[in-house]
Amino acid sequence: MPIVAFRIDPWSSEAVKEYEKLFKYFGIRPFKEVLPELRKLAEPHLLMRRGIVFGHRDFDRVLEAIKNNKRVAILTGLMPSGRMHFGHKMVIDQLVYYQKLGIDVFVAIADIEAYAVRKKSRKEVIDLALNEYIPNYLALGLDPEKTKIYFQSNHRTPYYRLIQMFSRKVTIAELKAIYGEDLETAKILAALTQAADILHPQLPEFGGYELVLVPVGADQDPHLRLTRDLADRFSNELGLTRPASTYHRFMSGLQGGKMSSSNPESYIALSDPPEFAVKKLMNALTGGRPTAAEQRRLGGEPEKCPVYELNAYHLVHDDSELREIYEKCKEGKLLCGKCKKETAERLKEFLKAHQEKLEQMKELSSKIVPRPRF
Ligand code: TRP
Ligand code: SF4
Repeated sequence: MPIVAFRIDPWSSEAVKEYEKLFKYFGIRPFKEVLPELRKLAEPHLLMRRGIVFGHRDFDRVLEAIKNNKRVAILTGLMPSGRMHFGHKMVIDQLVYYQKLGIDVFVAIADIEAYAVRKKSRKEVIDLALNEYIPNYLALGLDPEKTKIYFQSNHRTPYYRLIQMFSRKVTIAELKAIYGEDLETAKILAALTQAADILHPQLPEFGGYELVLVPVGADQDPHLRLTRDLADRFSNELGLTRPASTYHRFMSGLQGGKMSSSNPESYIALSDPPEFAVKKLMNALTGGRPTAAEQRRLGGEPEKCPVYELNAYHLVHDDSELREIYEKCKEGKLLCGKCKKETAERLKEFLKAHQEKLEQMKELSSKIVPRPRF
């Protein structure tokens, strides 16, 4: 039984390390298979070209739908917990990419999940969303006029009606098979709420889209499997269809492990003062060797290097420039000191420009997204 042999827990702090298993056990397809078809419509985003977006379900249906002028929406969600850092940026970058292609974008603020499962206080979550997360989305390039950003706790009635109706067609046994034996009421609520996030753009009240694409980190796949089943079960009653999804890799923490908002040493926040960010970068682990002599002889290991990741995921946009860093590192011609200094320059430049925009967006964010009363 694949589900017993390998289970993904969307609420654990463990990163999904074994991406191969997602193909083998869960039927996620390699994203590189759809790149040629995507290229016929648009230049793939750098995260897609570089294999950071590594997997998908039904992305081919999305391409078909766009070709046939069907109405497609993109939806994702973020849980405000801790500060927003580079590990959160990938999903927003993808939304910006799709929005520029003319596709409508929805973003769920997962405040109910943060309250019920993460046990954050309402005030903390709401403040974090309005002062930190939403301003960052806008500063990263999401269009404040076009993007539909909402709090899970503060949406319109038909969205809640979905959650209530979903409860009839899923059993505790199925939920346990997906989420594990220690299933709390809060997790059931969060899972059904996330299914409503994903499917509600198909309701006429929210635009009547024919297909929803969900870009997420690989840990979210259990929710997509549940949502796909629910869509099937409500295809007659509500005319829902299965969502498509894409999966991206996680970033490594600066000290190894996972980049996580619960460990400040592991991340660079998008609002960190540039000099402070550079300090963290300078202290980061690398894929370098113990001595310079050894590194010249053996070469570095960029595939194990958080500094390389920062460049590949975020800071170097030109593919040939990135390839040069990779090759020089491998050949031992680039040493970590120099590489970090060059990365620091890119990092400072990015953060300065981003933070100028961030200040302007703070006021805007509470204007476009109403604050839940409690
Ligand atoms: N569960 C997601 C997280 O932990 C947040 C989320 C809520 C979400 N609703 C969503 C993600 C809908 C994708 C689609 O970050
Ligand atoms: Fe990482 Fe750069 Fe060192 Fe290579 S040279 S291991 S990419 S820091």
